[in-house]
Amino acid sequence: MPIRIEEVTYQYQMNTPFERTALRDVNVTIPSGALVAFLGHTGSGKSTLVQHMNGLLRPTDGRVVVDDITVTPIRTRRDKKQNLLPLRRRVGLVFQYPEHQLFEETVERDVMFGPRNFGATDAEAKERAHEALRLVGLDETLWDRSPFDLSGGQMRRVAIAGVLASRPDVLIVDEPTAGLDPIGRRDMLALFKRLREELNLTLILVSHDMDDVLAYAERVIVMERGQVAFDGDPFELFQDEALVRRLQLDIPHVLRFARDMAPVLGETAIPLVRTESELADWVAERLKGGAT
Ligand SMILES: Nc1ncnc2c1ncn2[C@@H]1O[C@H](COP(=O)(O)OP(=O)(O)OP(=O)(O)O)[C@@H](O)[C@H]1O
Ligand SMILES: [Mg+2]
Repeated sequence: MPIRIEEVTYQYQMNTPFERTALRDVNVTIPSGALVAFLGHTGSGKSTLVQHMNGLLRPTDGRVVVDDITVTPIRTRRDKKQNLLPLRRRVGLVFQYPEHQLFEETVERDVMFGPRNFGATDAEAKERAHEALRLVGLDETLWDRSPFDLSGGQMRRVAIAGVLASRPDVLIVDEPTAGLDPIGRRDMLALFKRLREELNLTLILVSHDMDDVLAYAERVIVMERGQVAFDGDPFELFQDEALVRRLQLDIPHVLRFARDMAPVLGETAIPLVRTESELADWVAERLKGGAT
């Protein structure tokens, strides 16, 4: 199920003194099954853009086309009445601050909310909730607890389960690793990888972490002041140091290390490494080569 953002402009608080243009004429197509990351300086429009993908926000101008559903600006009463529930079910969005998404008394009830809202019976909703909680690896002993008693990483898993319980085709996660420790971060990214493989999901991640983007994303879209400033392979982006600086991003640690090591190891080009283990293999290979 591809997502097409066509010439989308979005203004917050239109026609007030606080009017703010968050997106300007954005065009992005995300094909089915893609693993795409959004990067960009704070306030560049990432969260605003992904909220258009499931109809949570409607464009001020332009349109969003997901499969057979087209979301346009609200101009007529009919636009206003458009039922966007089918879109919300198929494109699941986990908010930047998952605690904003949780509200029920127990974890189980929270995760049941989505399927219930989309028309499932109580029994079906419970079954799907259990399935989703198992998928995200949340221990059964926590299902009766209040979601607000959980750790940041666990809360995020509940929010993800809450979206997965509706069996979406697309999963969008806004800043999934923010505030997690290194192990929590690694586990979270491993979870997405597994979910994508098991459920055949299209995965869209919003991130601030350059190393995560290099290691996991097949494509990166960089936002800058409400516009797309780069759209392509993460390695291509991070290799271009002038561009990285201009977009106020950073070079991933893995690439920085490889760049600094390359001349020491007698290489002229930065190697195409995306992860720490690929970096280690490259160094080992070079050192072995030097020894013979
Ligand atoms: N509810 C709102 N009312 C008014 N302006 C808003 C609102 N939400 C966001 N904005 C403004 O819209 C612009 C884009 O914000 P957005 O949250 O989409 O950026 P972002 O790239 O997700 O930033 P961050 O990395 O901090 O999460 C910013 O200038 C922001 O101040
Ligand atoms: Mg944001």
